[in-house]
Amino acid sequence: MSDSISIRSLGSRVGETVRLLGWIRNHRSSGKIAFLIVRDGTGEVQVVVARHEVDEATWQTVTDRVAYECSVVVEGVVRADERSPSGVELTASRVEVLGDSSNDYPIQLKDAGVDFLLSKRHLWLRTSRQTAIMRIRDEVIKAIHDYFYDHDFVLVDTPILTGSIGESAGTLFETEYFDLGTAYLAQTGQLYVEAAAAALGKVYCFGPTFRAEKSKTRRHLTEFWMVEPEVAWLDSEGNMRLQEEFVTAIVGRVLERRLPELEVLERDTEPLRAVVPPFDRLSYAEAVEFLVSKGSEVTWGDDLGAEDEAILTEGRSKPLFVFDYPKSAKAFYMKENPEDPTTVKCNDLLAPEGYGEIIGGSQREDDLDKLTARIHEEGLPEEAYDWYLDLRRYGTFVHSGFGLGLERTVSWICGLPHLREAIAFPRMMSRLDP
Ligand code: 4AD
Ligand code: MG
Repeated sequence: MSDSISIRSLGSRVGETVRLLGWIRNHRSSGKIAFLIVRDGTGEVQVVVARHEVDEATWQTVTDRVAYECSVVVEGVVRADERSPSGVELTASRVEVLGDSSNDYPIQLKDAGVDFLLSKRHLWLRTSRQTAIMRIRDEVIKAIHDYFYDHDFVLVDTPILTGSIGESAGTLFETEYFDLGTAYLAQTGQLYVEAAAAALGKVYCFGPTFRAEKSKTRRHLTEFWMVEPEVAWLDSEGNMRLQEEFVTAIVGRVLERRLPELEVLERDTEPLRAVVPPFDRLSYAEAVEFLVSKGSEVTWGDDLGAEDEAILTEGRSKPLFVFDYPKSAKAFYMKENPEDPTTVKCNDLLAPEGYGEIIGGSQREDDLDKLTARIHEEGLPEEAYDWYLDLRRYGTFVHSGFGLGLERTVSWICGLPHLREAIAFPRMMSRLDP
């Protein structure tokens, strides 16, 4: 198999005889000529099989045996072809089926519904739209790691099994943990990267996080990936600057390297090109005032919902910061605003085009007494946070960080209608298979 080449690299092999391994995306034949579309994950190419140029076994194969998504080996000569999207096609000398498929391949129906497609996700992934999304997701992940590497952050992996609640008690997955009682699947790695920031200065974690979200919205998964930087000596203002540079770098990287995939998705790239610092900022109070003027029923103290976020970003092409939310709407660890103790030094970053919150970030409460009081107010068990409070007992420090949801970011960049296409095997309230 080592002498086979990828479809992507065919462009530099015009005139040569090559060997391809892949799957049949489409096939048709007349009495004298057959056309196969072969894909291999790097691209697809048309293979032309002329009856008088191949042996009888190959002709039999392409007329009687080849079926949608069967796997094949193809040998032939690469020809330049202006009409083909890849600029080349293959004139076959031999085609052999390696793995049969059948004509009742489960997903041929063009108009299959999303629920059905999700139940066949293991096969749905083979389609060009889904592979384009997966490649963009991969690019976003690489952009994230590169950004932090280039800016001297250290990757610190945080545990998935934890004893303390990271965000809110309402959405925890629990599991029994030997003699130690209940363990929770991590909702966030934040508490741990805070500890790591005191050790290393600039750190981040990037992994799966879990929320038993009972909502069936297009923005919620029960298992999603989150990247969480945490920075010592950074305040809320600096945190927002970091976010806008970071998001700009991610979008820029996709525009630079994944235009063909964005094209497959028919993504309008104009709004993405507008994503450059500085992003606009609204205080929570200003946001509520604006929303009320637009007829929203939000009142001061509520967290903002998806509809509110859509109203706030309407007509904007850049993401929008909303900062300094009420204490009552946000998590226990956020720093009380010295200028207004009813609010906390935090921000959400809302993506435009209706995508809404992609980042939640904040400066962390660094005062031991205030943080302890917040833990009590929220009814959280103080014992579980003893180690976390140590960070305030021994050399407390100004620090901030944020969490960017990978699937929400990929959905926005790709222009997807629903988060479930942004991850290979989505986990939602009503889906655990495949
Ligand atoms: O706003 P959240 O809950 O913030 C945190 O977890 C903080 N501990 C982050 C930090 O400061 N280190 O979540 C952060 C982001 C959201 O903005 C959203 O993009 C994503 O995680 N997110 C979800 N994505 C998919 N499905 C869900 N159920 C999500 N919940 C949050
Ligand atoms: Mg949030």
